[in-house]
Amino acid sequence: MNFENILITSENGIGQITINRPSKLNALNVATIQELHDGLENLDANPEIRVIIITGEGEKAFVAGADISEFANFSIEEGAHLAAKGQELLFDFVEKLKTPVIAAVNGFALGGGLELAMACHFRVASDNAKMGLPEVSLGVIPGYGGTQRLPQLVGKGRAMEMIMTAGMIDAETAKSYGLVNHVVPQNELLEFTKGIANKIMRNSPVAIGKAINAINANFKDGVDGYQTEIRNFGKCFGTEDFKEGTTAFLEKRKADFKGN
Ligand code: COA
Repeated sequence: MNFENILITSENGIGQITINRPSKLNALNVATIQELHDGLENLDANPEIRVIIITGEGEKAFVAGADISEFANFSIEEGAHLAAKGQELLFDFVEKLKTPVIAAVNGFALGGGLELAMACHFRVASDNAKMGLPEVSLGVIPGYGGTQRLPQLVGKGRAMEMIMTAGMIDAETAKSYGLVNHVVPQNELLEFTKGIANKIMRNSPVAIGKAINAINANFKDGVDGYQTEIRNFGKCFGTEDFKEGTTAFLEKRKADFKGN
């Protein structure tokens, strides 16, 4: 696949997507959102890829937001369409992916950039990272799931303050809020994140996919996450991975998961 705005590499079971528009601080234009969708779909379909890492090119930004130059003159309908299409192609898509996706937040994650990081399954930040949802400073609200996912991660009061002030928080504050799991020096960010990916890769891919689905269910209106958990728990019992995992434990050896 040929991409203009992202780079994809893969090594030892880890697929890395690097958003590559550093002159625009990796802002998400419509073309980049489509490429991210295609790249993620491709990596997710590859059984050799067990974990995906998303990061930004350069040392300054993960993603500095949706590309403001693209939507500055949009009508109400165009604005609603932009949000709906983006959520469908990227933000909901990444959240629901069965392959774990980790955001390695290497600098500014603002607006759509923080929304992308929040849609990933969890986040690791470099010590220079700054995060915020500045949309109300532009007269708009977060449209890529930010009003839903930020309160889920940091609590309603902190989300209200962050969204209403349009301010940025630094990496340590983000960690204390639970928005990122770890903060590391920038030059260690990718290695550290890959270390977590390696731990994930020891485990059953099919069970991890079902766990992601069950965890997400708890946050969706009208879905009883506990029922989804019960259903998915049951489904695991019909998988080869489950047989291998339990057998390996009982035989006191390391499991060799095939992902089916
Ligand atoms: N959309 C489009 N272009 C963007 C962008 C965005 N969200 N964020 C940064 N850029 C562009 C700038 O326009 C500039 O382009 P230019 O060199 O062609 O003028 C380039 O990226 C570098 O950004 P600049 O503002 O010069 O860097 P800075 O170090 O002075 O400031 C930020 C960094 C992140 C504070 C600032 O770029 C910013 O506030 N960006 C917008 C953040 C935002 O509101 N995001 C939410 C969008 S909904």
